[in-house]
Amino acid sequence: MELRVEDAMSLATHMLSASRLKHTLGVADYAEELARRHGVDPIKARCAGLAHDLSKELPAQEQLGLARFWNLFEYPEDEQYPYVLHGRLSAYWLEHYFKIDDRDLLAAIASHTLGRPGMSRLEMLIYSADLTEPNRTFPEVDKLRQSLYDDLDRGTLDCVEGTLIYLKESNHPIHPLTQLTYDDLKRRLTVGN
Ligand SMILES: [Fe+2]
Ligand SMILES: [Fe+2]
Repeated sequence: MELRVEDAMSLATHMLSASRLKHTLGVADYAEELARRHGVDPIKARCAGLAHDLSKELPAQEQLGLARFWNLFEYPEDEQYPYVLHGRLSAYWLEHYFKIDDRDLLAAIASHTLGRPGMSRLEMLIYSADLTEPNRTFPEVDKLRQSLYDDLDRGTLDCVEGTLIYLKESNHPIHPLTQLTYDDLKRRLTVGN
């Protein structure tokens, strides 16, 4: 089954706090705009944006419990830093409880926090829109928006690079998937797919 915009909107409205909903609507609007610019399905981009953070506000212990129950751990770091799980949880929940079977949409939701090697254009778009939606105000955000507008691949690489720099400078752990995503995008831009 396809995820419809009105259903994604209703889930987001019921499951998210006011501030998270504001971010979610920002991601949905921006993802749709970037999709139109880069020839990606804009309605699918809006749906993925609306659904990307649906599980984010579950308590950490509950996220860990569900991830264990649904067999969603891929790296030891997933268990150490449960905030990386909510994309995969949201995608699993939509697939198994709402019978959504659009693989690209589910992958875009699942990979929006950490990325993954081999991301599709929709996945890149949701990853990047999450970081640069209109409510984000960090110093380099306008540069990233320009880069994303000019070229989705290059812009996504810049977003991942910016995240890695931020994590290093603030002494936060770097999840192996984020490093693998960076290496993959860099390789794709230099030697092609
Ligand atoms: Fe998220
Ligand atoms: Fe988000």
